[in-house]
Amino acid sequence: MSVASLRGRDLLSMADLSAEELTALLTLAAELKAGKIHLRCPKVLGLLFSKASTRTRVSFSVAMFQLGGQVLDLNASVTQVGRGEPTVDTARVLDRYLDVLAIRTFEQQELETFAHYAKIPVINALTDLEHPCQVLADLQTVQEAFGTLQGLTLTYVGDGNNMANSLLLGCALSGMNVRIACPDAYQPDPTIVQKATEIAAGRSEVLITADPELAAKGSQVLYTDVWASMGQEDEAESRFPIFQPYQVNEALLQLSDPDAIVLHCLPAHRGEEITEAVLEGPQSRIWDEAENRMHAQKALLASILAAEIL
Ligand code: CP
Ligand code: NVA
Repeated sequence: MSVASLRGRDLLSMADLSAEELTALLTLAAELKAGKIHLRCPKVLGLLFSKASTRTRVSFSVAMFQLGGQVLDLNASVTQVGRGEPTVDTARVLDRYLDVLAIRTFEQQELETFAHYAKIPVINALTDLEHPCQVLADLQTVQEAFGTLQGLTLTYVGDGNNMANSLLLGCALSGMNVRIACPDAYQPDPTIVQKATEIAAGRSEVLITADPELAAKGSQVLYTDVWASMGQEDEAESRFPIFQPYQVNEALLQLSDPDAIVLHCLPAHRGEEITEAVLEGPQSRIWDEAENRMHAQKALLASILAAEIL
């Protein structure tokens, strides 16, 4: 693979990648993890985050440091962003200093405005609509466990949130069957479901259901995420009884393929969307998944910034 294959590109949605580009990124991520390739990219990454983050902030930072680059943590509260400077102004100014910008915010539209006004590549580090960087690491983890992606089935159980949306697209691009089990009022974004269905057409299946047991049956990957995402904390208590039947627990795992792995993007709420026994159990690959954030994002940065092969 050429490490410049995504030179200058934005990653705002999983759907910004073709199936071939996604495969190439995952291959590069695996080579980086195995130490088979060494890259150098002395550029500057800005992290403009309006929501909390442990994994994304640290994994992007370490990936950039290991590439020989530098990182600026542009938390909204320490920049003029927190005082309401217009996005269109911030975008054009940061564009003049940075080589690449990763943004974590609420509205996908705000990310798109940044990308429109900043000529440098912009990466979605999580919005309410999508979390593509997480899905790169998720797919890397599935590939490590099974040696392939095509033909496997991933079942996501819980809220039809940013994770569900990006998993729909990522699985469809990878030739994986994807099943999403959510309460009726919490289904994934309909436009993304439509897009994933079109990508998957003739290759794999997309199923949206309210039945977690039907969805988990025979599946190779069981995935969940919090029932109330960042910005929805006020709804957490009222959502609890609605989501209770969607808990990933040993009974649900029993219905999956005997070799199934369990993933969770983290942070996790033990005893809510996932039980302690499953999270810490032998089928959990959650810590590998968290580690892979760093390898997958290093591959992404290297491809976007055309890193030099050492
Ligand atoms: N999974 C994930 O994005 O974690 P953080 O919110 O800690 O970055
Ligand atoms: N759906 C969660 C993911 C956190 C990584 C959130 O948006 O808060």
